Amino acid sequence: MDKLVIEGPARLKGEVTVSGSKNAVLPILAATLLTDEPCVIRKVPNLRDTNTMLKILRSLGKCAEFDKGTVSISSTGQAGFFADYKLVSTMRASFCVLGPILAKLKKAKVSLPGGCIIGVRPVDLHLKGIKALGAEISIESGYVLAKADRLKGNSVYLGGVYGSSVLATGNVMMAATLAKGRTLIEAAACEPEVADLAEFLIKMGAKIKGHGTPIIEIEGVKGLHGTEHTIIPDRIEAGTLMAAALITKGDILIKNVLCQHLGALIDKLEEAGACITKADSSVRVRLKSKLKAINVTTLPYPGFPTDMQAQIMSLMTVTPGISVITEKIYPDRFMHVSELNRMGAHIQREGPHAIVEGVKHLSGAPVMASDLRASACLVLAGLAAKGKSSISRIYHLERGYENIEDKLLGLGAKIYREKE
Ligand code: EPZ
Repeated sequence: MDKLVIEGPARLKGEVTVSGSKNAVLPILAATLLTDEPCVIRKVPNLRDTNTMLKILRSLGKCAEFDKGTVSISSTGQAGFFADYKLVSTMRASFCVLGPILAKLKKAKVSLPGGCIIGVRPVDLHLKGIKALGAEISIESGYVLAKADRLKGNSVYLGGVYGSSVLATGNVMMAATLAKGRTLIEAAACEPEVADLAEFLIKMGAKIKGHGTPIIEIEGVKGLHGTEHTIIPDRIEAGTLMAAALITKGDILIKNVLCQHLGALIDKLEEAGACITKADSSVRVRLKSKLKAINVTTLPYPGFPTDMQAQIMSLMTVTPGISVITEKIYPDRFMHVSELNRMGAHIQREGPHAIVEGVKHLSGAPVMASDLRASACLVLAGLAAKGKSSISRIYHLERGYENIEDKLLGLGAKIYREKE
């Protein structure tokens, strides 16, 4: 396994371009299972997770070519309904093949994804929605078995104890596109990635309204056709790069950004002292004055994104004063706290809260990545810390950040890879 070595402190300056959104492209790739016709998807980031999803599509009878950011999907004529544990367990998002397989083939056998380091990650809302569409569901030896001669439109409330569910909304929306009649999803997730999935489905001939709002209406159709689509920019990568500009007291022009997807984050960064200049598809980020402590609570979109919680924590570790970060989506999403403290941060966890007391500077240290966004937060800390940091298990980082080393090198970071 590789590790990432970072010599800090750095001051990042220059221009960088954000890749396509991981969390938009994964369900959109799953949606190609709803048609036998070819689909072309552009601005697909070359990540572990996107390549895992392509492997799953190939195991389900798709031909999937990935060349310079463009994915071409076609059918081999042998559509499969079985999504194997070996693949699904490596990436939870693969569970969103359930809805499309069931809708297209009238039966599906998909491995339960299991939990991960950031939480238990149940799928009860996915199953509630699929059942509401008339599917017969059973759980056998860690697999979900689902069957339905023809799914029927229905109203279903998809809000859970932690609010809406992004992939459950996607799973049910995809299944409903081929159901007979009208489906109303209440307490639907409003994330831009859900809206991008709906746009893709509409291009395939689906009848969907209200995507991006808590009420999504789907009128079932007989079949869907192939289409072409360009993936929206990755708002979490953009947010991570914005935090990188601030934690290194740098000045970065970030291109391929939709600022309207980053409202909550921009609001909080400006409160923390950032000078953010927005343009149509880019944003310039630098420090206006000294960093100021802030309080952050993660919420479903348009609230502050949980996927930026670790990164904003890194920033707050070197911000004078006391910041309180409250995690409302995944209360256990704090594996990065102990690693940041090893670098000299002063963070105390109190249940779903992390109390961060800013320190003058972090010190480079060997640290270990535990999940995707925790690894990003350790990279940010390494860029700001005095001395050398080495981050092990960076396969976590490779799941969601395309060419991140090259992007940071291009901004002046001293970063390189070493064998573990
Ligand atoms: C998506 O995961 C994202 N992943 C996650 O990003 C992101 O953190 C999450 O949404 C929340 O924004 C992808 O889109 C591939 P949820 P998802 O269902 O859909 C609970 C990253 O770093 N829940 O919206 O799986 C769940 O436990 C990843 O890129 C249920 O209770 O998340 C959580 O507390 C990490 N029952 C909350 O809802 C269910 O059936 C939100 O989860 C499903 C979820």
